[in-house]
Amino acid sequence: MAIPMTDLKGQYQSIKAEIDGAVSRVLQHTQFILGQEVKTFEGEMAAYCGTKHAAGVASGTDALHLALLACGVGPGDEVITTPFTFIATSEAIVNCGARPVFVDIDPDTFNIDPTKMATRISPKCKAIIPVHLYGLPADIEPILSIARRHHLKVIEDCAQALGAEYKGKKVGSLCDAGCLSFFPAKNLGCYGDGGMVVTNDPKISETVEMLRKHGGKIAYYHSLPGFNSRLDALQAAILSAKLKHLDTWNDMRRRNTALYDSLLGKIQGIQVTRAPANFKSSCNYYTVRLLNPRVKRDDLRKHLDGKGIQNMVYYPLSLHLQEVYKDLGYKAGDFPESERAHAQVLSLPMYPELTEDQVREVAAAVETYVKGLG
Ligand SMILES: Cc1ncc(COP(=O)(O)O)c(C=O)c1O
Repeated sequence: MAIPMTDLKGQYQSIKAEIDGAVSRVLQHTQFILGQEVKTFEGEMAAYCGTKHAAGVASGTDALHLALLACGVGPGDEVITTPFTFIATSEAIVNCGARPVFVDIDPDTFNIDPTKMATRISPKCKAIIPVHLYGLPADIEPILSIARRHHLKVIEDCAQALGAEYKGKKVGSLCDAGCLSFFPAKNLGCYGDGGMVVTNDPKISETVEMLRKHGGKIAYYHSLPGFNSRLDALQAAILSAKLKHLDTWNDMRRRNTALYDSLLGKIQGIQVTRAPANFKSSCNYYTVRLLNPRVKRDDLRKHLDGKGIQNMVYYPLSLHLQEVYKDLGYKAGDFPESERAHAQVLSLPMYPELTEDQVREVAAAVETYVKGLG
C-alpha cells in the first residue's frame, strides 16, 4: 500500500461529523468574513499558546508580513533569519522593503545558530526571525539576549511548530510575536489557507488587526496602508473543531518520530535529528540526514518511490542561493552548514494516523537500500 507524506482524507474521515457540523453552522448564518467563529478561535488559540492576544489572518506568510510591519520594520531595515527555511520567511521581510540577513544553522537541529548571530547585526537591523524548523524549537534564550542587547524585535516563525515547547513554554509565546500557519499539511491545518499572529503586546495585535482589514478599525475609515488578509469564518470553525485534537495528534506524531528514530538511527550513515533536552518538537516533518557519501539521495528517493513511499526534500536550495535573491550578493560557501543540509536532508512520511506498521515499512525500505550498497 502506498504511504503518502500526509493523509488529510484519513484525518477528515476520523472527525467528519465535527467538521461537517462546524461548516454547516457557518453556512446557515452566512457571516463568512471574520465574525464570531474567528473571534472564538482567536480566543482559543491565545489560550492554547499562552499569549494575551491572537489575530487571524489569511496565511502564515501574511502573519509574518503583518507582524513585521506591526513591529515597525520597513524600507532600508535589515532582519536576521535562517537561510534554511521555506521562502515565506524571507519573502515577508522583502515585502516590507527590508533586507534579509542570513545567519547559518546549527547542523544538529537545522535551526539558526545564535553563536553566529552577533557579527551579522548592523545598525540597520530591526528584528530577528528564528524559525522552528520541522517543528523543533530554535534556541530562543540566547537569541532573546542578543535581541535585548541590540533593541531588536524577535518574531517566531511557528508555521511548522504549533504545539512545540521550549523549556516548558509553548512556541509563539516566547518572543514579541509568534506567526502560525494553518496550511493544510501543518500540525493544525485548515481546508484552504489561514494564519495567525499571537502576541502578548496589545499594540502589535491591534496593528495586525488593522492591517488585515485595509488599515482601519472602523469600516471605511483608514489610518494605515493596509491589506485584505482576513481569516474567514469557515476556516475558523474548522480549526476550532480540529484544535480539540491537536495535542493528541502531536503526541501521535511524537510516537511515530520516536519509532522512526529507533529504527533509522541504527542504520549506518543515517543521522536522525537530536533534539536538545527540554526542547519538545511538534514533529511536523520527519527529516533525516544522509551522511554516507555512497547513499545517493536521488537513488534512495527512486527506491522509495518504487515502493510507493512518498518522500520530499525540504529544502533543496538554501535561500541565499535562490535566483530571486541574486542581488543580495550572497554566494556559494557563505553558509556551509545550510548548504550541507540542503544536499543531505530527506523527509519521510509523517502524520498522526501513520501506523506503526507503516513506519516500520518505511524504515525497512531505507535499510534495504543502504544494505544493498554492500
Ligand atoms: C517555515 C514556514 N514559514 C512560513 C510558512 C508560510 O505559511 P503559509 O503557507 O500559511 O503562508 C510556511 C508554510 O509553508 C513555513 O513552512
